[in-house]
Amino acid sequence: PSLMRVFSGIQPTGVPHLGNYLGALESWVSLQNEYSSVLYSIVDLHSITQPQDPQLLRESILDMAASLLACGIDPARSILFQQSVVSEHAELCWILGCLTSMPRLRHLPQWKMKSKQKNEGSVGLYTYPVLQAADILLYKATHVPVGEDQVQHLELAQDLARIFNNKYGELFPEPRALLSSTRKVKSLRDPSCKMSKSDPQKFATIFLTDTPEDIVFKIRRAVTDFTSEVTFDPEGRPGVSNLVSLHAAVSGLTVEDVLIQARGLDTGKYKSLVSEAVVQRLQPIRLEIQRLRADRGHLLSVLAEGGAKARSLAAPVMTEVRKRVGF
Ligand code: ADP
Ligand code: NA
Repeated sequence: PSLMRVFSGIQPTGVPHLGNYLGALESWVSLQNEYSSVLYSIVDLHSITQPQDPQLLRESILDMAASLLACGIDPARSILFQQSVVSEHAELCWILGCLTSMPRLRHLPQWKMKSKQKNEGSVGLYTYPVLQAADILLYKATHVPVGEDQVQHLELAQDLARIFNNKYGELFPEPRALLSSTRKVKSLRDPSCKMSKSDPQKFATIFLTDTPEDIVFKIRRAVTDFTSEVTFDPEGRPGVSNLVSLHAAVSGLTVEDVLIQARGLDTGKYKSLVSEAVVQRLQPIRLEIQRLRADRGHLLSVLAEGGAKARSLAAPVMTEVRKRVGF
C-alpha cells in the first residue's frame, strides 16, 4: 500500500468567498490533522484557460496565498505552492494527454458549458481536466477533496492512472474523492444559484475580506420570502434556509440548535443574528489576510519553500515516467 497523500488545487481568483471557505477550505484545514502528507496548489496554469491580466494575476496569486494561510493552511504541515513553478505539471499533462481520447474530453460537462459561453474554447480549456489529472498523479496523491462538480474530472484522473499503469506498468495509485459534506452556500440575492465570485448581482457574495459593515449590509439585503417565521425547508423556502445553514456552518451548531436560537424572531431580526455569527467567524480571518498581505516578502518566501518541496516530490516521479515512456 502506498503512502496516503492529499492533493487539491484552487485557482488564483483573488480572495475566496464564504462558499469557497465553507465548501472547501475549511476541510482543507482539517485534513492537515488527518493526513501526514498534504499538498495544496494555487493552480495558475489552470487560471489562464480564461483571459488574465498579468499584473492582476500576480496579485491574485498572493491574495490567494494570504487567504489560504489566514484560513489555517499551515506550511509546516502542508506543502503550499504555486503550480507553474513545478514545470513537471505541464510535462505530465502532455504525456497523459497522449493517452486521452478526444471524445472522452468532449463529453465532460464543464467543457460543454464553458465552451458554449465562449462560442469557441481554447485547447487549454479543452484539456484542463488532463492537467488536473497530472496535478494529482504527479504526487501519487491518494485522496482528493473535491466539490460535486469535479467528480467527473476526478474519474478522468482515475482512468488515466489505470491506462498509464496498464500500458507502462504499475506506477500511480488511483486517487479517491473526498466529497465535501457541506451543503452548497447559495447566492444571497438568488438562492436558486450557488454563491459564486462571478455572480453579476451586487451584494450576493460574501468575501473573506468583507468588513463587518459589508457583511451586515449584504445579509440585510438577502432574499427571503413573505413568511416571517424562521424555518428550515431548503426546497420550499430556499432563502431563509440558506441563512439557517450558513449560520449553522459558521457557528459549528446543528440546524436544530440554530432554529432554537431563532425561535420567536422574524426573518428581519434573525438576519442580525446571522450577521453576528458570520462576522465573528470571518473577522479573525480578514485581519490575518490584511496582516499577511502587507508582507509580500514573507508570502513569496512561503511560496518559494513550498515550491521547492513540491518539486522535490515531483522530480523523481517524472524521472520514472520518462523512463517508462521510453525517453
Ligand atoms: P466559484 O464558483 O466562485 O468560481 P470555484 O469554482 O473556484 O468557485 O470553487 C472553488 C472551490 O470552492 C471548489 O471546491 C468548489 O466546490 C467550492 N465552492 C465554490 N462555490 C461554492 C459554494 N457556493 N458553496 C460551497 N462550495 C463552493
Ligand atoms: Na466555478
